[in-house]
Amino acid sequence: MAEDKRRGLSRALYGEIRARIADGTYAAGAVLPSTRALAAERGLSRGTVLLVYEQLAADGFIDTQPGAASKVAAGATIPLARNRGAKPPPDRHSDEGHKGRLSAVGRRIAALGIGDAGPTAPSEIDFLYGPLAGGDFPTLTWMKALRAVERQRPTRLEYEDPRGNLESRRALQGHLSQTRGLSCTVDQIMIVNGSQQALDLCARLLIDPGDGVVVENPGYRMAHHAFEACGAKLICVDVDEHGLQTDRLDDVPPAQLAYVTPTHQFPLGGLLPIGRRRALLDWAARRRAWIIEDDYDSEYRYSVRPEATLQSLDSRGCVIHVGTFSKTLSPQLRLGYMVLPSALVATFTAAKRVADRHAATSVQGGAGALAGRRQLRPSCQTHAQAPTGAPACAGRRAEQAPGRTGPDPRCGQWAALGGVDRDAARLCRAGPCTSCPQSRRARLSHRPALPSKWATETVSKTGWSGHGVCAAGTRCD
Ligand SMILES: Cc1ncc(COP(=O)(O)O)c(C=O)c1O
Repeated sequence: MAEDKRRGLSRALYGEIRARIADGTYAAGAVLPSTRALAAERGLSRGTVLLVYEQLAADGFIDTQPGAASKVAAGATIPLARNRGAKPPPDRHSDEGHKGRLSAVGRRIAALGIGDAGPTAPSEIDFLYGPLAGGDFPTLTWMKALRAVERQRPTRLEYEDPRGNLESRRALQGHLSQTRGLSCTVDQIMIVNGSQQALDLCARLLIDPGDGVVVENPGYRMAHHAFEACGAKLICVDVDEHGLQTDRLDDVPPAQLAYVTPTHQFPLGGLLPIGRRRALLDWAARRRAWIIEDDYDSEYRYSVRPEATLQSLDSRGCVIHVGTFSKTLSPQLRLGYMVLPSALVATFTAAKRVADRHAATSVQGGAGALAGRRQLRPSCQTHAQAPTGAPACAGRRAEQAPGRTGPDPRCGQWAALGGVDRDAARLCRAGPCTSCPQSRRARLSHRPALPSKWATETVSKTGWSGHGVCAAGTRCD
């Protein structure tokens, strides 16, 4: 107890002296009070003050010499202009001062205006796309998996392979091969901090300022942001109820890559038919363009096996397959993965190392364990009554949408499109959605494939922030 108190007092004294040195109150070369005098003044033991001075000397704030007075070290002071009555420095946090000091990438990111987006307060009817119900998280399973990972903690704690640890990637490889028919080696798999990091890496490594990037219209705005940050020119290609209209691709200007959500078009929900998948791959081969396949929620297909991925159809090595644990576990884990064409593995591995070395070992280990045990399918819980969630009736509203031809076997975010404003929410009049009660996201209910005009109008009216809609075929937000 006494020791704690002593440590607290010496920490306080250390902080006080350091602050005075830093703000110029004690100028460089100034003589500090003797330890004896300071101890008496503060009612401390001399030993405590001696320790503080030793620490300040070790940190380079003061010079001490045996038998001589301690002095403030040269260069330790950061005098504030205001102490000398000079004009205060320009506000480094003001927009202009700040922007002037940014790189071109920094300026483009600042111009996106998305820096202050924090968590949104839950509203009475919450159609926001992205959050999952906390109660759906498989807490016990997750804790068990984490505990198992921690038990295997090696004696030497070193950095991992930037792609992630081998065991987790092996588990993921099995999972992807079984559930998505992906054919790849473990070397091609890279575990990343959410699919957003995958998009960011792709943008930084594949796009130069001014390069064209084909995106879906409407499409996933967070992907657009990643490309725009690198100076890409977005080339918006309309989607219809089947997803990207690939017959329009021949008319687009030169593009370095195309970003698509073929298995569940975001946000309209179309499933890209095999003919269009092949057309997209042919286009990419002709244009020598990369394709990013964002397979963000195919686990939410129930009655039908998800369509063959572009990655599994790709014979030329131009598809980068991206997936996430944000839908099966939690967006807060910040965990996703990429399956890279062999030609890109080394470069992406180096970039991941530069970015953040690798994803957190325990988190990737936990997710890998769940993947290995086939526990990544959405849990079978009903959330029709979730108090803060969207009403389950949202799906019925979607089913009543014009052009709807039958129940969509997947659950997803469609309701979000209709629900983000009050008008749209009023459309949710029908009874509870029953066609997919087992889904953890039944509360967000079924996403139909809708005629693009109706859907796009709804999207633009609601102004929902999760997607971008191209205006006049040029921009996507
Ligand atoms: C199209 C799309 N891709 C990916 C994600 C997931 O992103 P992340 O893995 O960065 O959480 C989402 C989440 O809403 C999405 O809508």
